[in-house]
Amino acid sequence: MVRVIVKGRRWAAGRLLLLVLLMGAGLVCAGCGGDSGDAAEGGEGEATVAVTPPRPILRWMGPAFVRPVDREIAARCAEEVGMPIELLPAPANPLDRLGLYRQFLPAGSDDIDLIDFDVIWSGALARHLLDLGPHLSAEERGQYFPIYLENNSVGDALVGLPQMGDIGLLYYRTDLLEKYGYGGPPETWRELEEMAAAIQEGERAGNAAFWGYVWQGNVYEGLTVNALEWQASMGGELLVDADGRLAVDDGATERALDRAAAWVGVISPPEVTVFQEEDARAMFQNGNAAFMRNWPYAYGLGQAEDSPVRDLFGVTRLPKGDGPDGRHTSVVGGQQIGVSRYSRYPDAAADAARCLTDATAQRRRALADGTPPAIAALYEEAEVQARIGAAAQIAQSLAEHAVARPAARTGEHYTEISLIYFIEVNRVLTGEQDAARAVARIGDQVRAWVE
Ligand code: GLC
Repeated sequence: MVRVIVKGRRWAAGRLLLLVLLMGAGLVCAGCGGDSGDAAEGGEGEATVAVTPPRPILRWMGPAFVRPVDREIAARCAEEVGMPIELLPAPANPLDRLGLYRQFLPAGSDDIDLIDFDVIWSGALARHLLDLGPHLSAEERGQYFPIYLENNSVGDALVGLPQMGDIGLLYYRTDLLEKYGYGGPPETWRELEEMAAAIQEGERAGNAAFWGYVWQGNVYEGLTVNALEWQASMGGELLVDADGRLAVDDGATERALDRAAAWVGVISPPEVTVFQEEDARAMFQNGNAAFMRNWPYAYGLGQAEDSPVRDLFGVTRLPKGDGPDGRHTSVVGGQQIGVSRYSRYPDAAADAARCLTDATAQRRRALADGTPPAIAALYEEAEVQARIGAAAQIAQSLAEHAVARPAARTGEHYTEISLIYFIEVNRVLTGEQDAARAVARIGDQVRAWVE
């Protein structure tokens, strides 16, 4: 007699029946594997088979990304992969989420398959993630903007696939540019400074709360983003160079920080040193700023029916430095999907990650809520262009001006390095220290992590 013990919560009756039939036909050998854990010999003529039933593919993600359209996309991919996909909301605060992943993954549990992560965690999570390279054809790999492949490649492994595009943009008031006689948005930081100052001076006559330029200066990751854009656009490196060496003392970081500090209280409000994305957006969208640095999400919100700046603003690439080594530079962001190396279903999970980030998925998301795709070809499609007002500018910056934070290069230590950097940069913006001292202090502290 064969007794079948089924462990776990879901087991399709049909599959159980099939298993019993196969056993009856001698096609499944119960108990013949000795003490293999899954099957153990019972008394004479009796065998106990412990079967772990299949469970859905489990995907951990930020709660803000568990939307109806994500469920719809997951349902399509579940059908394609042949297994259900369950979406599990992880903590909303990004650092709490990283903390959870960092506790859970090293334990090697097979109870999670897919992990959604911010671009900056590719290095920190890499040793727990599968190399997805072998699961993609050359064509599938080539559909994503190259910056995401660069950001998500750690050593030889491709540890994540992008679900969306995110990139720094310059927002500007078209009506005010016209009013003050400017033919177009600024190309360089010098032009931005001049235009912001002139427009601010003129607008202050009727609106004491008006400022020239708003951005993100709080003590957090968003300041790392802004400051890296300044220094790279002025000819500097992205904190750590391609060889993994600290690179802040080439003069560009110091120049960039001196320059941004001079904006505070002059063309940018003193509170910009505590601004995050939503603070800057509130000021710009209420009509109280001429220019803003922000991500693409602010475009759709600024165009909402009740927005005071609806149809009064445009977006373009961020300004470049004025000298010969100046270049337009935008830091890339966004959510990636990786597969846990300890997944119970690595192949199915890798197929799911590919499906969840494919052109069909990203087109669907773009049309549903205006999320920019990470796939260049989608920006050529008329319906995507009609849904995403800034499609052309987003695609241009992602293709031509995007740079990645040094996440892949700094491995486990990106979070610590960025923390040191944004604390020291913020102290320059608030006038607590000068840029030269910040560069020295960043060097002293970061060197321990990279060299
Ligand atoms: C956005 C970006 C993300 C970045 C964060 C900084 O969410 O997508 O990559 O780290 O902003 O505030």
